[in-house]
Amino acid sequence: MDRSKHTVSTLVEMPFTRRRWSRAALFAGVGLLLAGCADNAPQDYFQPKGENARKIDNLQRPVFYIAGVVGVIVVAVIGYIVWKFKDRGQDIPEQSHGNPKLEIALTILPAIILAGIAVPTVITVFQLDKKDDTECIINVTGQQWWWEYDYATGDCGGVKIDKPIVTAGELVIPEQTNVLLRITSRDVIHSYWIPALNGKRDAVPGRLHTLRMEADHPGLYTGQCTEFCGLSHARMRQAAVALSQSDFQQWVDNQLEPYTAPEAGSMAADGEAVFIANCSKCHQVNDLKNADGSPVLSDPDLYVVSGVAPNLSHLMNRTAFAGWTFDLITEQCRTKLWNAKPVDFGALYLKGVTPECFDEANLRDWLRNPPGMKPMFVDPNNLSSTGGKYRGMPNLNLKPAQIDQLIAYLLERN
Ligand code: CUA
Repeated sequence: MDRSKHTVSTLVEMPFTRRRWSRAALFAGVGLLLAGCADNAPQDYFQPKGENARKIDNLQRPVFYIAGVVGVIVVAVIGYIVWKFKDRGQDIPEQSHGNPKLEIALTILPAIILAGIAVPTVITVFQLDKKDDTECIINVTGQQWWWEYDYATGDCGGVKIDKPIVTAGELVIPEQTNVLLRITSRDVIHSYWIPALNGKRDAVPGRLHTLRMEADHPGLYTGQCTEFCGLSHARMRQAAVALSQSDFQQWVDNQLEPYTAPEAGSMAADGEAVFIANCSKCHQVNDLKNADGSPVLSDPDLYVVSGVAPNLSHLMNRTAFAGWTFDLITEQCRTKLWNAKPVDFGALYLKGVTPECFDEANLRDWLRNPPGMKPMFVDPNNLSSTGGKYRGMPNLNLKPAQIDQLIAYLLERN
């Protein structure tokens, strides 16, 4: 074609010539393909960071390649035949009743491929279900819309846990240890998935599903709930944090450190009173005492559908909150943590939320209006379907001064 004749007027008359369509399709295709090339993709299951995920990768890669080759051959043959035998006005070809040799071959060949794939698949399924080499057990409970972790007492990869630890959002595990998660749910079906460490496992009310976890090196491995579980399913995230054995010991020690009351007369002390009056209905802070010395015990059963709210005893040892959706640390500090070398990661993580790293705006906005940041069924006038209980955290209509006091108090929960 003479390009010089391709003037603006012809383009306007023929806005979508075949050439333009194919160019648009090419751009869309290449764009889609390139989107898979991001190197900062921490939830890429092609990059396993632990033994269990690696077993899955070793299985899925050859299957993916074989399926890819078969797919390309099938599409190419179909394309060739469509082009070759296109209706050009030729005679109708001789009608036959098939080709037995070809049909038998095309039946046997896929059967052989499938049988070949079945062997490593079944072996991998059994390997991923192994439990007799467990070195640490952690209970995981899905709720709308966050994950609770409950560490059983006993040995966890050589570290002794002598009192139960309850935390949320961030699963902290010792590196190179066979951890067994026992997963369930308190309300609807969720699904637990840390792609770098293993496949996904559904969290089903009334059932207990196990999932192996192992990380080769200290680091942060993220995931998200992968079963649609209601309004804030997209804001139900999770992370696994792997630490060296000595750092894990340090983390356990931090978690079991007794409660320290704020200094009398401080803003944090006022915050403690605000916390007891408002937040402690649902949120537990271990060893917190009323003015008369009696323990402050939360009773979320009365207020939320799942009957549980995150334990906030050591909130500032975590790096995100509200279903691991909002950062407690600034973007700069988050990036540092992401990029930390395995050898430096533990020390950086164990610092917790330092004053330099604290992202106050997120927590402040949350305390001001939680449903404004994360959609939840918390309209006080529309709780008939849940017997008057909330799904998630309602707006407590806290005054700005109360929010200041609460933040001062929570900052000391480390
Ligand atoms: Cu929980 Cu989706």
